[in-house]
Amino acid sequence: MRPKVSAPTDGQRSSRPGFANVTRSPLAPSRIAILGAGGFIGSHLVPALALRPGARIVAIDVAFDKLPFGLPGVERVQASIKDRGVLDAITARADIVISLTAMCNPALYNTRPLEVIDASYTDLVPLVKLCAERKRRLIHLSTCEVYGRRALRADGRPSRRMDEDRTALCLGPIHRERWTYAAAKQLLERVIWAYGRHRGLEFTVVRPFNVIGPRMDFIPGVDGQGIPRVLAAFMHALLTGEDLVLVDGGRQRRSFLYVDEFVNALLHIIDRPEPCRGQIINLGNDKNDVSIRTLARSLVCAFLAQRPNARVPRLRTLTAAAFYGEGYDDSIVRIPSMAKAVRLLGWRPHMPLTQMLPPIVADYLARYESRVARHTRARVLAPGLP
Ligand code: UGA
Repeated sequence: MRPKVSAPTDGQRSSRPGFANVTRSPLAPSRIAILGAGGFIGSHLVPALALRPGARIVAIDVAFDKLPFGLPGVERVQASIKDRGVLDAITARADIVISLTAMCNPALYNTRPLEVIDASYTDLVPLVKLCAERKRRLIHLSTCEVYGRRALRADGRPSRRMDEDRTALCLGPIHRERWTYAAAKQLLERVIWAYGRHRGLEFTVVRPFNVIGPRMDFIPGVDGQGIPRVLAAFMHALLTGEDLVLVDGGRQRRSFLYVDEFVNALLHIIDRPEPCRGQIINLGNDKNDVSIRTLARSLVCAFLAQRPNARVPRLRTLTAAAFYGEGYDDSIVRIPSMAKAVRLLGWRPHMPLTQMLPPIVADYLARYESRVARHTRARVLAPGLP
């Protein structure tokens, strides 16, 4: 497939569509390629990088609905990383490659496992090889899912925090397809590690812990179908007046990190190649460890503060099998060790959950409220609609 390329906004024109040979001066800022730039994280990272003087960013994705137009120094390449030619061209001209592409949604792990494995592993192995061969720096976004159900020490005994270099990785049995994503992501981490250790690849692997913020996932029926991750699923319920569903009662816990703070940590990683070289780094906020039930209640409060006349939303419990289907499994508790991020990056997040929810709710209301109302009206008139 031939990639579609938008005009570079930094004034440079490509001699070959989308993939100019760039002569790099030693003083020029690095050219950064971002794979999956049009997704949730990319839509925050790319504008943050574009604010930097002399930014030279190649943003690659199959769609750019979430990314604003006209960012200085940002060139868009509409293409799939499944296309080997795309990876070849991108690694030919970028100094740093940041890989964000994923099917990061637990509703897909047990329903579309083969696609999840390809997106998390098969499609990315060629990228790792190319980065190693061409001496490109790779910053790869993995996942806290690799830790699995809960934190275990190497001897199998439980521990409180998930530590990059000490915690064992505790995935469930194979018929629990929930762990396809985690297993594929873990194997790619091992491939990256081996290329680093044996073939000189300069890499940093990031394990994000439940990053939330505006533009996360989709609202079912409006700009996507199926079940999004929990924040968007709860916002969908609030916008439509449906019940918020607590899977298995919502006792499972997550540590939430605000997306702006996460992006700030990524900028620190970009700026500190030497200390981050060959490292796996958790990025999360251990202070925001709450149950999903607490998240639901906090979100309801934030919503009612902005829509005081709305019907008071209800919480309803459903079994995981009824909600996600057979093969689902869950992380019971997921708290990052922050020690390495603090040590290597001098970074520590500060935003409590109660502070991050109001701007998130405001953003969802601004972007979706009228669209959800239109969709609801259309469903009343044509009940067959999804
Ligand atoms: C997902 C991904 O699999 C991880 O790779 C990723 O790192 C993580 O999100 C993230 O956002 O960083 P998970 O936290 O399990 O993992 O995904 P969510 O869909 O956000 O679910 C969180 C919890 O809420 C789960 O226990 C789920 O069962 C529950 N949930 C979800 C509900 O109770 N109700 C819902 O409507 C949706």
